[in-house]
Amino acid sequence: WSELVTKESSRVSLLRKRFPNAIIIGVRKGGTRALLEFLQIHPKIKACTAEIHFFDFNKNYQLGLNWYREQMPKSLPYDITIEKTPAYFVTDKVPARLHQMSTTVKLIVIVRDPTERAISDYVQVLFKKHGVLPSFEKFITKDKAEKVLKTSVSTVQIGVYVDHLRKWLKYFPISQLHFVSGEELTTNPAKELQAVEKFLNIEPLIKKEHFYMNQTKRFPCFSQYVESKKKKNSGCLSESKGRPHPSIRDDIRKLLQDYYRPYNKEFYEEVGRDFHWP
Ligand code: A3P
Repeated sequence: WSELVTKESSRVSLLRKRFPNAIIIGVRKGGTRALLEFLQIHPKIKACTAEIHFFDFNKNYQLGLNWYREQMPKSLPYDITIEKTPAYFVTDKVPARLHQMSTTVKLIVIVRDPTERAISDYVQVLFKKHGVLPSFEKFITKDKAEKVLKTSVSTVQIGVYVDHLRKWLKYFPISQLHFVSGEELTTNPAKELQAVEKFLNIEPLIKKEHFYMNQTKRFPCFSQYVESKKKKNSGCLSESKGRPHPSIRDDIRKLLQDYYRPYNKEFYEEVGRDFHWP
């Protein structure tokens, strides 16, 4: 008994707030929340629940690195402290700032078919504006006939992943980034999470039994084998994740797909993985 008490008190004495060793840097609407929540099945992952926006918001950045560390959960020396702020991936000043903090931090990007991502993004903006927005078709085109894509709008721009990635590669080698498929995370979550475990160099503990496909939500949720989470929302993420999408005109979907296709190809080449987006 006394040995147990000593062990526990030495464990507690080692608990402290540490800088993250891994950051989910994007992409917005890619499935970043699902990824962060699911990773926490692993006992070594200590995650920051809120998005910190340290490197992208000047107001936060000016508070300094000690402030940033204070936002982190307590962890043990061999734990992985992780935060997620999807805006990092597309904010130009972030790679340099992050590199200045740590040259070894591991970067995780969850990507999703950019056309679907754009629709998801629109639904999010629509929700925030209480439904006061033009139709998706109008929102992402710049002419009356709705035939010319408004490439300057961030809803479209975020999906040109290769452009954003190249800004990161000026500071970090590609081996320091890991890409998760947003599609696969919904169809085969354990497989994608096991790849992340490998990238983070932690014991493989996440199994397919940790998830079940919720037929109402049509997304994977935590199964009964994930004790603490199972009572809330049948183990599913909140209502704001997995919202219904409006049906989009075929020509508009094609306009987006045609626009993204060459960029997607370059992106696959850079990361060495084909995501098979249409
Ligand atoms: P939609 O709500 O448009 O379907 P993020 O967390 O980065 O904001 O991404 C939100 C998206 O995560 C959702 O977009 C949904 O498609 C996706 N997602 C992936 N796995 C999910 C899960 N298990 N439950 C709910 N949404 C999930």
